[in-house]
Amino acid sequence: MKIYRGNILFTPTPEQFTVLERGYVIVGDDGNIIKTCQDLPADCKDAEVVDFGDQLVMPAMNDLHVHAPQYRNLGIAMDMELLPWLNTYTFPEESKYKDLKYAERMYRRFVHDLWKLGTMRAAIFATIHPDATCLLTDLLHEAGMGGMVGLVGMDRNGPATLSNTVEEAVEGTKRVMEHTKDMPLVSAIVTPRFVPSCTPRMMTALGLLANEYNLPVQSHLSENQSEIAWVAELEPESTCYGDAYRRYGMFGQTPTLMAHCCYTDGEEFELMRKNHVFAVHCPTSNCNLGSGIAPIRRFLSAGIPVALGSDVSGGSGFSIFRVMHYTLQMAKMQWVRTDHKDQFLSLSEAFWLATKSGGSFFGKVGSFEPGYAFDALVVDDSDLNFDNYTIQHRLERYIYLGDDRQLTHRFCQGKEIAAPRISGLVG
Ligand code: GUN
Ligand code: FE
Repeated sequence: MKIYRGNILFTPTPEQFTVLERGYVIVGDDGNIIKTCQDLPADCKDAEVVDFGDQLVMPAMNDLHVHAPQYRNLGIAMDMELLPWLNTYTFPEESKYKDLKYAERMYRRFVHDLWKLGTMRAAIFATIHPDATCLLTDLLHEAGMGGMVGLVGMDRNGPATLSNTVEEAVEGTKRVMEHTKDMPLVSAIVTPRFVPSCTPRMMTALGLLANEYNLPVQSHLSENQSEIAWVAELEPESTCYGDAYRRYGMFGQTPTLMAHCCYTDGEEFELMRKNHVFAVHCPTSNCNLGSGIAPIRRFLSAGIPVALGSDVSGGSGFSIFRVMHYTLQMAKMQWVRTDHKDQFLSLSEAFWLATKSGGSFFGKVGSFEPGYAFDALVVDDSDLNFDNYTIQHRLERYIYLGDDRQLTHRFCQGKEIAAPRISGLVG
């Protein structure tokens, strides 16, 4: 058992924060929370307490959509919309991951930067390359961090250097499953890149694989208008973009993440609601690629599950705190655009999306309620807290003004996570 003390904040519901000033979190040997409380229970009075003093203690970040092999393109190449951006910058960069040394050099930095910005669990796109994808799972596992890693299926409309066959995509995904079977926090996820990249044969095979092994699925949906028009041409039998995934068993038949959903409405909206498909909101990417504004308030009101994603390198950074900041701002632009119909999101809603809502994809993750994994960040915000701010205002200032410099400790499943090594063995 471990006991931690500090200024504790978390969001059991989207509506409000639970704040325990100088409270306690009691964590079992399995890394799960036994109890979160204001006063130490009598039977714990003699136990050792790790006291974080006046620091903030909160659930760690969950990034539900990120592309590891786009690491090198962070912060460059943002002068195009989605489809030319993919062809010009993204596909050539991802092609380099055939080279395992290059992959190791970049993937070590990728895992380090997730850690640095406080993300302890992520749903990750790798590439078509099985060796590099297994290496990425090794690096996450070694670091003690959690993730679902997808070997990407793509067999049309990409360069030959970044295409696989249906058999390679299926076998590659099975290899990642096998490779991660003894990793408690890392697992495989079925990953058709998006409909324009996958022939009906590829979609059929990946859908069967997901359903046979009850594997989760991740992909992209209704991100950009040119993309949506192209999908309508490529899949004339589908009644909407989402229906093209549904027809192949990849729209909620197993747990499903769909990134972006900027233009989701009508039938697609209903399908997501009925099938509990997650909309992964990637507002930093949607700004950078000029994609659009996703109607998050409408998703939440309808009960469609929502999580947050950095979408590196469409998104220009790893910080999910930054993504929260954009989530709040974009919700206001949506309010303007809808003549004030779609209400703002609150700070607690944005925080809940990043923690408990996103974390739910990994199990009991993202809150400090009993039974939840102790995934946590400790924040020394003394440089931002120069006057008597409330604990909640301190968190708000950290979200808007803070970065990795204030993060003093990171925990995943009860273990403190040290900085992952950047230098490689072969790279
Ligand atoms: N759609 C298909 N591939 C990608 C990608 O790599 N990034 C984004 N933002 N959208 C995509
Ligand atoms: Fe993406």
